[in-house]
Amino acid sequence: MPFPTLTIGDKTIPLPIIQGGMGIGVSLHSLAAAVANEGGIGVIAGALAGFREKDIAKNPIEADSRGLAAEIRQAREKSQDASGLIGVNIMVALCNFASLVRTAVTEKVDVIFSGAGLPLDLPSYLREAAEKAQEEIHTKIAPIVSSARAASLIAKKWWSGYNKAPDLVVVEGPLAGGHLGFKRAELDSADHRLELIVPQVIEALKSFEDKCGRAIPVVVGGGVYTGADIYNMMQLGAAGVQMGTRFVATWECDASLTFKKAFMEATEKDQMIIQSPVGMPGRAIRSQFLEDMENGMKKPPHCIYHCIKTCDPATTPYCISLALVNAQKGHMDRGFAFAGANVGRVSDIVSVKKLVESLREEYEAAEAAAALSPPQAAEVAPLTATE
Ligand SMILES: Cc1cc2nc3c(=O)[nH]c(=O)nc-3n(C[C@H](O)[C@H](O)[C@H](O)COP(=O)(O)O)c2cc1C
Repeated sequence: MPFPTLTIGDKTIPLPIIQGGMGIGVSLHSLAAAVANEGGIGVIAGALAGFREKDIAKNPIEADSRGLAAEIRQAREKSQDASGLIGVNIMVALCNFASLVRTAVTEKVDVIFSGAGLPLDLPSYLREAAEKAQEEIHTKIAPIVSSARAASLIAKKWWSGYNKAPDLVVVEGPLAGGHLGFKRAELDSADHRLELIVPQVIEALKSFEDKCGRAIPVVVGGGVYTGADIYNMMQLGAAGVQMGTRFVATWECDASLTFKKAFMEATEKDQMIIQSPVGMPGRAIRSQFLEDMENGMKKPPHCIYHCIKTCDPATTPYCISLALVNAQKGHMDRGFAFAGANVGRVSDIVSVKKLVESLREEYEAAEAAAALSPPQAAEVAPLTATE
């Protein structure tokens, strides 16, 4: 059997894979369009989306909105006949969260994904936009959570405040790249394995599915690497997967070749957990820059981006946005790359088409193997960061 389709309300797509939003500038229109053309959801990163705009230091809010709008339009242009969708990732921790959401809605993006905090007021922007335009808004909204508790909290607030249930929920586990919704000590704990959290989130959303009268698909990410992983996650009840690391090692990924090569060269030991200026742990590729920062060196910024709510330029050891922009451009000595726990397995850069083909073959092989000897629920292979 081919991949099952993914249905989000009135929209059904043939590929149940979401390419996770990757900032800064790692997933922009090129990657997002390529994924949408394969039938999945290609996601543009909202974080500092205007980093290439000339006036980013002077007018960061306007420049970001302009940059995001331009990326969405180019992604649409490059995926006109796509069977997939275009999404935007907008982190709650961003100072210009509201402005980016308004831009995404105005540009009629298909889905807004929002994590790094609880997007409790996200539906209010859709309501506002609908009132202003005097028409129905078709943009779907999907929180990214790391626990059933967070999923419940968001669903309760949306239902009581806006009579709205999430259109889809992404559950991100501790093996993911980027900022992590766990305390550092929880990252290696057996209680916080994705395989345990997923059924809890599905259960927590059941009463909201009853209330809104439709399914709330749960999509799972963080350490999903092969088609067999996708198959296993689906056996747990996931409607699809979100993948980041694998999409970095594609020709269409919007980061520089040097950035992609850092993924190819990293071994399993080259990843490290950092305490990000965002106030959350993050998983990244070990680098001299990060070692220096961990060892107490400081590069106090002259803050130009004013990007993260919790960042205090007076006390932060370095500007995370500048470090991520430097890395995106290939200046790895002046920055660093976020990456998932499986980064050590990346050995090649391929096209998005080729990646999807290989995932499909692996999925089908896993399904065929399971048909010969069906596993018990408890036997579903856990995600792993080693081959
Ligand atoms: C380079 C990089 C940048 C990321 N940036 C963001 C981001 O801006 N916002 C976000 O919500 N998640 C971000 N993530 C997380 C991904 O969207 C995705 O959920 C995660 O990487 C999935 O785990 P995997 O890499 O093991 O597939 C980032 C991940 C990577 C590798």
